[in-house]
Amino acid sequence: MMSRSFNAARTAALAGFILTVCAAALAAQSSRPAATERRWHGEIDRIVQTRCASCHRAGGVAPFALESRLDVEKRAGTIARVVEDGVMPPWFADKKTSHAFQNDRSLLPAEKQALLEWLAGGAPEGDPKNAIAAVAWPTGWTIGEPDAIVAAPQPYDVPAEGAVKYKYAYAKTDFAEDRWIQKMEIRCSQPQVVHHVLVFLEEPRSKDESKGKWRQRFQGGLYGYFAGLTPGEATSVYVEGRAKRLPAGATLKFQIHYTPNGKAVRDQTEIGFVFAKAPPQHEITTKSAMSTALRIPPGKADYEVKATHRAKKAGVIYSFAPHMHLRGAAFKYEILFPDGRRLAPLDIPRFDFNWQFRYELAEPIAIPEGTTVVATARFDNSDKNPLNPDPSQTVTFGEQTSDEMMIGYFEWEDAAAPKAKAEEAREGQ
Ligand code: HEC
Repeated sequence: MMSRSFNAARTAALAGFILTVCAAALAAQSSRPAATERRWHGEIDRIVQTRCASCHRAGGVAPFALESRLDVEKRAGTIARVVEDGVMPPWFADKKTSHAFQNDRSLLPAEKQALLEWLAGGAPEGDPKNAIAAVAWPTGWTIGEPDAIVAAPQPYDVPAEGAVKYKYAYAKTDFAEDRWIQKMEIRCSQPQVVHHVLVFLEEPRSKDESKGKWRQRFQGGLYGYFAGLTPGEATSVYVEGRAKRLPAGATLKFQIHYTPNGKAVRDQTEIGFVFAKAPPQHEITTKSAMSTALRIPPGKADYEVKATHRAKKAGVIYSFAPHMHLRGAAFKYEILFPDGRRLAPLDIPRFDFNWQFRYELAEPIAIPEGTTVVATARFDNSDKNPLNPDPSQTVTFGEQTSDEMMIGYFEWEDAAAPKAKAEEAREGQ
C-alpha cells in the first residue's frame, strides 16, 4: 500500500520524461533491430508461464491472462512498473533476512532483469522453434480426485459492485470416524471475485463431547482454523506420514470474503479432501500466537502488538500465515529457543491485506519443548494508509474487516505420534 502512493508520486514525476523517451524509442524501433538479445520464445515465455500464468490465465484468479507474447506486450508499461517495484508477482517476505520458502513466487534477480530488458527492448518474439511446451494447467482439482467433497450449503450471489460483508456457511460432515487429511483444496466457481476463504472446525453439536474439551483439542488458533484459500493458493498438502485430523461429525465453517469486480456472478465454494492411506506418524495442527488486546488510537501511524505461544511439547514448524485486516502494516515471527538461541524466520516489512499468504518453509524448523514463538504486528491507522476505511476510529478486535485482528498462525507437527481414539479414551478414564 505504501508503494502504491509512492508509485503515484513517482509516476507523475517521471511521466514527462517517459513520454519523451517513448516517442524517441518508437521512432527508432522500426528501422533498428530489437535493442535486446532477449527473446520471447525459449526464455521470456518460460518466466511468464512459471511466475505469472499460475494466476494470470484464462479462468485464473487474476483479472487478465498473461499467456501469449501479445498478452504481455499489450500491457508492457504496467508490467514493467509492477515488476520493477516488486509488486508482481506478489510476495512479501523480506528476502534478505527471512528463511527460504518453498512456495516463494517472487522472480529471481536474473529473471527480473531478463523480463525488464525484454520489455524495454520492444518485446521481440524470436524463433517459434524455441518455444517451451505449453503448461497444461489443471482444469479440475490440482490435488487429484478427492476422496470426499464438502460444499458450502448454498451458492452466493455476488453483486457487480459495492462491499460485501463476510459470508458464513456451515456444512456438517458425516464421516463415521476421524479422517486423516493428506491433501485438501478449496475451490470456488468464480475465483476472480473471491478474496479469501477460511475454513474453521466447529464443535459437533452432540452431547457426548463437551464444548470445553472440544475447544481444547481442536482450537487451532482462534476458533479452529483448518484450511484457507487466497489468490493463487488453494491447496494444503502434507508430506508423507503427516496429516491433519478431521474429527468425526465436525462442522466446517466457511468464511468467504467476496470482492465484486464489475460483473454480478453466482459463486459456489467447496473443499475437497484426499485422505491419508494410513494413519500418520505425526499430526499437523494450526497453532497461533495471537492477541485480542488491541486498541488502536485514531490516526496512530505505528501501533505495535506482540503475542507469544509457548510450545508445551517438542515439534516441528512447517509454515506461517499472519492474519490482520485493513490497518495491518507489518508482521514478524521470531522463535526463542530455551537455550537462548533466536531465529527470525519471517519478516514482512510491508503487509498487504489483499494477500493473506501462507509461507511454507523450505526447511521446517524443529523446536524443543519450552520454545516460544513471538509474533509482532504493526498497524497503521493513519490517513497515510490508503486502505484505511476510517482513520478517526479507535479500532479494536473483531471479525469484520473494519475491525482488526492479530493472529500469527503457524502449522506445527507434534513430535509424539497421534493417539488412536481408543487409547485416548482409556487414558481419560
Ligand atoms: C498469486 C497470483 C499472481 C501471480 C503469481 C502474479 N499475479 Fe499479477 N495480479 C494478480 C491479481 C489477483 C491481480 C489483480 C489485483 C491487484 O492488482 O492486486 C494482479 C494484477 C497484476 C497487474 C495489474 C497491476 C495494476 O497496477 O494494474 C499486472 C501488470 C500484473 N499483475 C502482472 C503480473 C506479472 C508480470 C506476473 C509475473 C511476473 C504476475 N502478475 C504474477 C495475481 C497474480
